[in-house]
Amino acid sequence: MQKYDFDTVIDRSGNYSSKWDELKKMFGRDDLLPMWVADMDFMSPQPVVDALVKRAKQGIYGYTSRPESYFESVARWMKKRHNWDVKTEWMIYTPGVVPALSFIINAFTYPGDKVLVQQPVYYPFFRVIEDNGRRIVNNPLIYKEGRYTMDFDDLEEKVKDRRIKLMFLCSPHNPVGRVWTKDELIRLGRICIDNNILVVSDEIHHDILYPGVKHIPFASISEEFALSSITCTAPSKTFNLAGLQTSTIIIPNTAYYDIYRNFIKRLQLLRNNAFGLVALEAAYTHGEEWLDQLLEYLDGNLRAFTEGIEKDVPQIKVVKPEGTYLVWLDCRELGFDAHQLNDFIIDKAKLAFESGYWFGHGGEGFQRTNIACPRTYVNEAVKRLKSAVESIK
Ligand SMILES: Cc1ncc(COP(=O)(O)O)c(C=O)c1O
Repeated sequence: MQKYDFDTVIDRSGNYSSKWDELKKMFGRDDLLPMWVADMDFMSPQPVVDALVKRAKQGIYGYTSRPESYFESVARWMKKRHNWDVKTEWMIYTPGVVPALSFIINAFTYPGDKVLVQQPVYYPFFRVIEDNGRRIVNNPLIYKEGRYTMDFDDLEEKVKDRRIKLMFLCSPHNPVGRVWTKDELIRLGRICIDNNILVVSDEIHHDILYPGVKHIPFASISEEFALSSITCTAPSKTFNLAGLQTSTIIIPNTAYYDIYRNFIKRLQLLRNNAFGLVALEAAYTHGEEWLDQLLEYLDGNLRAFTEGIEKDVPQIKVVKPEGTYLVWLDCRELGFDAHQLNDFIIDKAKLAFESGYWFGHGGEGFQRTNIACPRTYVNEAVKRLKSAVESIK
């Protein structure tokens, strides 16, 4: 067994990394510890690096096509990690999940139509909806005793609006870290299907799970659910490949598949990046050992972070995630409004987190951090939060 090292600090600066090189642009200063955008400060699995180096060394980067083995590697992964039987003919390559959400909106709705989201949620959902001239309908999550759940009564009421055509389901949920149970997904799916709402299940975080937690792909629940949904996946969160812009959209309903495919054909988006395709196949074929070790390391990071915050910064509550390497922090006890909290985290704690209010209703007073980094950063973040909070007293 190859033992991977997640402790080594790798200098990412000067590499056009959004997380490190956009600090000044995003947060107004560049002396912050960056724990924001959802990528990892770890190297991808060695077999992925080796495959990319081998491809790069060939030195010819002309047009490439996706072999059948590319899609088969996705299918094998879904079966092995999520017990989901996916046919390769349901899959379409797309350069990213967020672009796919935009294509879906354009392909399946008309201007003025409405899309359901569950705030606080990954905020590019809002941009995709509004930039395309559609409207957001919020089915807010319920936060009670440190845990988020879905509000089905509210959902039953909201779906009476016939202009709602889609639901963007975030599963696992960014930023609150819930991995939805089968019962929750069944209740949600039933309501959407009965009201002709197409469920778009963004499952990009599906592989990042803490011990004992199981992710249920929405479409794996039943044939009816599969035919009433579109699943968005990618190896980008799992293997830290976001910069290679390679994702897979899974559409078991052939009529929906044709609608989506025709839309991306109209955009002439049929070609792929030569490196993305190599990385995806290498990751899904040879990356499992690395992933299992990563998950252990992330669990250790989560414990170190949670224990540190509980001991040294009890005014901040960690909302315990079941999945994702993102951690949602309830900072309301500090008594700041959303903007004061933001300034406090940046100027006093010298940390680059993401402001809770960016994630919509219910995010005020919260911050989202990212623990996919060497443990020294996690411990440093606790230290910085501790001294910042002490400075208020
Ligand atoms: C829920 C969710 N969907 C999509 C994305 C981004 O996907 P892509 O980079 O493939 O557009 C992210 C990244 O953080 C995410 O958290």
